[in-house]
Amino acid sequence: MSSVYVTKEIPGLERLAEYDVAVWRGEGPVPHDVLLGEVRDARGLLCMLTDRIDSGLVDSAPHLEVLSQMAVGVDNIDINACRRAGVVVGHTPDVLTETVADSAWALLASIVRRIPEGEREVRAGEWGPWEVFHLAGGDLHRTTLGIVGMGRIGQAVARRAAGFDMEVIYTSPSTLPDSDARRVDLEQLLEQADHVVICTRLDDSTLGLIGADELARMKPMSYLVNVARGPIVDTEALLEALRGGEIAGAALDVTDPEPLPGSHPLLELDNCLVVPHIASASVRTRNEMARLAIDNLVAGLEGRDLPARFPPDG
Ligand code: DGY
Repeated sequence: MSSVYVTKEIPGLERLAEYDVAVWRGEGPVPHDVLLGEVRDARGLLCMLTDRIDSGLVDSAPHLEVLSQMAVGVDNIDINACRRAGVVVGHTPDVLTETVADSAWALLASIVRRIPEGEREVRAGEWGPWEVFHLAGGDLHRTTLGIVGMGRIGQAVARRAAGFDMEVIYTSPSTLPDSDARRVDLEQLLEQADHVVICTRLDDSTLGLIGADELARMKPMSYLVNVARGPIVDTEALLEALRGGEIAGAALDVTDPEPLPGSHPLLELDNCLVVPHIASASVRTRNEMARLAIDNLVAGLEGRDLPARFPPDG
């Protein structure tokens, strides 16, 4: 049995040459029962957001010292179980912030300006004569951007809004110093924003945060973007809001369930854009995430402080 288990082949694994390493090389995520067997003797585990690290898994890994996840979000990990077992947890913040913010803007611009609809029309050979209001959508410039969760990614999304001359409002437990952006509560944000971008982490307090009542508060011409985690938005409620014209559209990098089946009714709607959890997927950023995940793992195995520990204060 190996002392380090890695659940996906990622760049830089040669840095682990001095350890006895096993890597899952199968299709898709490692099956849970395989993972359970592999961690029995492991001191270190490098995992992905698709791996369920529950208390049962932590309990079945008595030698585990460090768990390093190649993602910033750690909602798939039972952090309390890790704490109880004395397992330090690492993740990959900062290195993906700007790429995810770029992606949030790509999604927002695409859905507001109806780019996917136009592209589908052209590919289908249905590009007809020019019409005055054909595929006319919303605007980005001089509108109000509402950011739910003003952490690193939320702030990076907000910085980009200056170029569009937008007013920025946000929800956060604390007020940002030296910022023109205005802190409001969630109800005010939903009522005032023309575009709502979800950047908050998924935990017990944000599970189902955007449901039917919240969607009903949004402006009928407003758009919703989610680059955080699918379960923050109630999928059924979103479906109804999009069908009923309660909001103008949604662009989702993340969904609940995930992956979203190809037959899902959300995918029948013209005013919904869904991409497969790729907000951090630039080549440079994914390489940086892999590097930081390995840095965290090696630091844990050597008994040093992790460069990016979750939570930072242990
Ligand atoms: C994360 O890191 O949590 C993203 O969702 C994937 O890069």
